[in-house]
Amino acid sequence: MPSLRDATRGRVLFGGDYNPEQWPEEVWADDVRLMKEAGVNSVTIGVFSWAMIEPRPGAREFGWLDRLLDLVHAHGIGVVLATPTSSPPPWMGALHPETLPRTEDGSVVNYGSRQHFCPSSPVYRRYAASLTEDLAARYADHPALTVWHINNEYCTHCWCDETAAHFRRWLASRYGTLDALDAAWGTAFWSQRYGAWAEILPPRRAQYMRNPAQELDFKRFTSDALMECYTAERDIVARHTPHIPVTTNFMPLWSGQDAWAWAEQEDIVSVDVYPDPKDPRGGQYNAMLADMTRSQAGGPWMVMEQAAGPVNWRAVNHPKPAGLNRLWSLQSVARGADALCYFQWRQSRQGAEKFHSGMLSHAGESGRTFREVKRIGAELAVIGPEVSGTGVPAEVAVLHDWDAWWSSTQEGRPSSLVSYTELVQAWHGALWDAGIGMEFARPGSALSGYRMVLVPQLQLLGDAAVDDLVAYVRGGGTLVCGFFTGVVDVDDRIRPGGMDARLRELFGIRTVHEWWPLDAGAAVECDGFRGTLWSEELEPDGSAETVAAYRGGELDGLPSVLRKGGAWYLSTLPEPGALRGLLVRAAAAAGVRPVLEGLPAGVEAVRRGGLLFLLNHGRTPAVVELPGRHLDLLTGAEADGVVRLDRYGVAVLRDVSA
Ligand code: GLA
Repeated sequence: MPSLRDATRGRVLFGGDYNPEQWPEEVWADDVRLMKEAGVNSVTIGVFSWAMIEPRPGAREFGWLDRLLDLVHAHGIGVVLATPTSSPPPWMGALHPETLPRTEDGSVVNYGSRQHFCPSSPVYRRYAASLTEDLAARYADHPALTVWHINNEYCTHCWCDETAAHFRRWLASRYGTLDALDAAWGTAFWSQRYGAWAEILPPRRAQYMRNPAQELDFKRFTSDALMECYTAERDIVARHTPHIPVTTNFMPLWSGQDAWAWAEQEDIVSVDVYPDPKDPRGGQYNAMLADMTRSQAGGPWMVMEQAAGPVNWRAVNHPKPAGLNRLWSLQSVARGADALCYFQWRQSRQGAEKFHSGMLSHAGESGRTFREVKRIGAELAVIGPEVSGTGVPAEVAVLHDWDAWWSSTQEGRPSSLVSYTELVQAWHGALWDAGIGMEFARPGSALSGYRMVLVPQLQLLGDAAVDDLVAYVRGGGTLVCGFFTGVVDVDDRIRPGGMDARLRELFGIRTVHEWWPLDAGAAVECDGFRGTLWSEELEPDGSAETVAAYRGGELDGLPSVLRKGGAWYLSTLPEPGALRGLLVRAAAAAGVRPVLEGLPAGVEAVRRGGLLFLLNHGRTPAVVELPGRHLDLLTGAEADGVVRLDRYGVAVLRDVSA
């Protein structure tokens, strides 16, 4: 199987989406000149080129693409070649309106933007396959080709009749019989029992709350339907070029694709990362996406897109202050990225993204953005060969799961203020603040290699995953689990007692009598900290230690945090400092230490390969005491006991004490 290594060949890939079809060909020569100047060694081409390549049904206009690939190749730049199937040309929607998606209430999502295809449409799939076939045949032997990029950010949902038929086929293969489906969906409730497959619909707009199990299955189905589109194109390109790795770029922390399942179908796992420059926790968010993608990849991964400056899709789009692009870029490399690419190379002058930054912004080659890009390119040329292909060790795993995420978003739940992704971010952030390295794992994957496993929240847990957690703790592991976990089974059916019985035994809980969600901004006093968002009326079974109890209010005196051997249960969300304190305490008990002790606030330390990255997320300079002698690969300077970091500064250090 080809891998990212085949594309990087000992380097870190550096470049971005290149959309030269938006520019007269005279500009291309300028592009490649500046790419060379910036150290760009990879460009992603063709993402939105369908209408250029196939201007009429069945037509093929490859001439411009031939010239382009030849040009970049002549300059030693590799090509991540995209199948342009995320944005069908207008003729498809006009000729075949059934390829256009429909929303939950039946309205048509028209062409005129992008991603306007129904994943279940056989007509769309036929055109996409035919174009992919011809593209792959034409460029299979082109020496510039390094990676296949299938489609772009698969994110389309559709509720049309074709989708309904496809959904029924998917359900028939999952359940076999209507009786099994009725049982799984609990259709005895509200007279929802189905008498024929043909009666089943995607969860379209309805009078009141919809069946949550039906919604859960529709999310599973949609992820699978999109994946069929992906694998169909992947199989075509792989037939032509079995030696070229294939990827599709994930959206960051996006619920629509089960990334664990998708990653298994990719040679390279890639993601688009857009932390908000204004967000003081942007560095932590960037770290979390890196950890997630590296875990899905099981090793080095690819930043397919990031922004050199502002995006244009937030309410207010802030630019990156000097140094921030470099900081987050090198942070991704520290956390395992072997490819660092941007959306996009040259900032557009027309179209919906003309205010979205590019590596080469409207300010041109003398602009600050491009100068910083050049600096990053030059630095990657130095550290790339040192880090490429190396791993990032972690003794802690955070469990993350799409089924649990999907089930947590249903209507009619105890609190709509609880956000699965915010909980994952809060727990990841607590470890990040504590300087403890981590990765993500999927429930059901091997856990025995980790000293500590964290479950911020997994509302839905299958039986095997529950058994795994129990076995992990029995085997000596440390498990810290957040509230409202193990509440439903794989069919979204409630487990009696407020939590799976095996988990209750593990944590020393006899019964969860009630969940007591908290109002926005409210807090509940606990011993030594304040809990937010949630609390629980727990009856312990006497086998666990009460680490903290609720004080005051309805739950006065009841446990808020329990510990039974290696199993910890947090029935509330402690405020950030307290959550960090509890996780550090559990980590210490598990023998897990921070990457580096005693770091100043805002400084992150990551070890990758034989190198130590120090990253200053603070807006003021920082001084790090580091025993021994270290060579900073970025400056060539040696640090003797002390490393000084500018605001947003980075040092990439090799220990040369010996
Ligand atoms: C996504 C898309 C790109 C571009 C960027 C803008 O990541 O894949 O085509 O639209 O967003 O941030």
